[in-house]
Amino acid sequence: MILSTTRAHLSAALESVRKRDERLGFVPTMGFLHEGHLSLVDLAREKSDFTTVSIFVNPLQFGAGEDLDHYPRDLERDLSLLRERGVDLVFSPEVSEMYPGGNPLVTVDPGPMARRLCGEFREGHFAGVLTVVARFFGLFRPQVACFGQKDFQQAVLIRRMVQDLEMRVEIAVGPIVREADGLAMSSRNVYLSTEERADASGLRRGLEAVQEAFGQGETDQAALRAVLEDAVAKHSLLRLQYAEVVEPDSLEPARPVRHGSVVVLAAHCGPTRLIDNHILSE
Ligand code: PAJ
Repeated sequence: MILSTTRAHLSAALESVRKRDERLGFVPTMGFLHEGHLSLVDLAREKSDFTTVSIFVNPLQFGAGEDLDHYPRDLERDLSLLRERGVDLVFSPEVSEMYPGGNPLVTVDPGPMARRLCGEFREGHFAGVLTVVARFFGLFRPQVACFGQKDFQQAVLIRRMVQDLEMRVEIAVGPIVREADGLAMSSRNVYLSTEERADASGLRRGLEAVQEAFGQGETDQAALRAVLEDAVAKHSLLRLQYAEVVEPDSLEPARPVRHGSVVVLAAHCGPTRLIDNHILSE
């Protein structure tokens, strides 16, 4: 497995892949890897000949008062997991290498879909995400890039950026990987205390309750939200920040809710902010 920490080294390493005319797969991450990330590596390996991963905690996507300074990191462990999983190249640059001139002056405007849901509470977050992803696409020029459904709004915005800016890359989205009790895997789950960790799985139970009500014929947005709120309220350490059933492409509220609409939520569990979602099926 090749480890690159500079753009120059990365470009040279990828040059030989391009000469061999191999299909390049790319999985961007912020590290502290878990099975969710690794499932995307598997997906990228299926879809490409040469699989690459970036590990970069991107300051542009963190707001003031967010967890940039204590975001969990363990590069050695990440590298050994990726090596075991058959990754060909890892790019792990310092901030000064990614943004040598300081923060970029020209950034990606993610548009109105980024002002809803998480965007309402994390100003500038999706501009930071799309800007770094666009920059990675420029550096790697992958044929396929893999993202997780876990960050549903992020995946929708990336697809839309690729479409609207005519970026020549296939976007593949992998399903949410969960812990045994249903909690969606996240690097941030390490922040949870034992008590918080127990309550956190209530989010998944809330999503299941919505699926059940929908399965029994409920298609009203407000009624389904109430089902979710009731289920989550049973867990005293959870506080919903938002919960909505949205259309998968526009992220507009689904009215009526239908097969393929997506229940999306964010909640605090103690001080930790968690997100989760579920695609409704008939
Ligand atoms: P990060 O949170 O490290 O996630 C990297 C990728 O893993 C994302 O596409 C995310 O959706 C996916 N992922 C996370 N948890 C998952 C789970 N439980 N199941 C399946 N996939 C999961 O998302 C980011 O980093 C950043 O915003 C990034 C795209 C790298 C830009 O900085």
